Amino acid sequence: MTIELHGVAFSYANDATKSLLNIDHWSVARGERVLVHGPSGSGKSTLLNVMGGLLTCNVGEVTLLGERLDTMNARQRDQFRANHVGYVFQRFNLVPYLNAIENIELASTFAAGKQRSSVREEATDLLHSLNVIPSDWSKPTSHLSMGQQQRVAIARALINTPEILIADEPTSSLDAENRDNFLRLLLGLVAEKNTTLVFVSHDLAIAQYFTRVQALSEFNQEHC
Ligand SMILES: Nc1ncnc2c1ncn2[C@@H]1O[C@H](COP(=O)(O)OP(=O)(O)O)[C@@H](O)[C@H]1O
Ligand SMILES: [Mg+2]
Repeated sequence: MTIELHGVAFSYANDATKSLLNIDHWSVARGERVLVHGPSGSGKSTLLNVMGGLLTCNVGEVTLLGERLDTMNARQRDQFRANHVGYVFQRFNLVPYLNAIENIELASTFAAGKQRSSVREEATDLLHSLNVIPSDWSKPTSHLSMGQQQRVAIARALINTPEILIADEPTSSLDAENRDNFLRLLLGLVAEKNTTLVFVSHDLAIAQYFTRVQALSEFNQEHC
């Protein structure tokens, strides 16, 4: 299994009386493209943060690619994430005054063992395959449209060829046409690289793009 959660419980410190996450067992196999849906506030972002090692669970085991994230220290988790996990966020989180290439290169500086020249070549390959035209590569990303910014964000998330891609409602600020373009491009790249994808959204209209669709409430016993 690429992702395995066992006996995971998580609560925020200011609300420790109830566990927001209570997951007995949940796993994702290599190459699966999973959509986890649930209403706003149900814990989707929290799940992704626990899975990506940005938050640590109170109890339980989080295993990615056979490695226990929950027993790593913060530095080891950061390094593991830089090498193996890509993130796409709802609001892109691009550095607004840097251009597309600079944003992508920045992501690669945290990962191990890549030459700068090969990063630039891969960045331009990714931008080409995501239909971002070369004249837009050198503009500050704040000057690009939402749809373009979100495609740059995919390129940034994939530059280190992560085995796992995590996407937190990246389509919710896009209109239907941009949303469908984004999903076609993303799912195409993910399939080509056999990346394991966990995508969360409240929007079930996008279910057709995924190999597995699950409500968070199916495997999360809330408020235990
Ligand atoms: N940093 C935080 N500290 C305290 N509570 C939080 C924090 N982040 C989220 N929450 C609460 O946890 C619940 C789940 O949030 P979240 O995981 O963001 O849900 P979703 O992504 O499904 O909208 C919400 O009630 C939210 O208010
Ligand atoms: Mg969220």
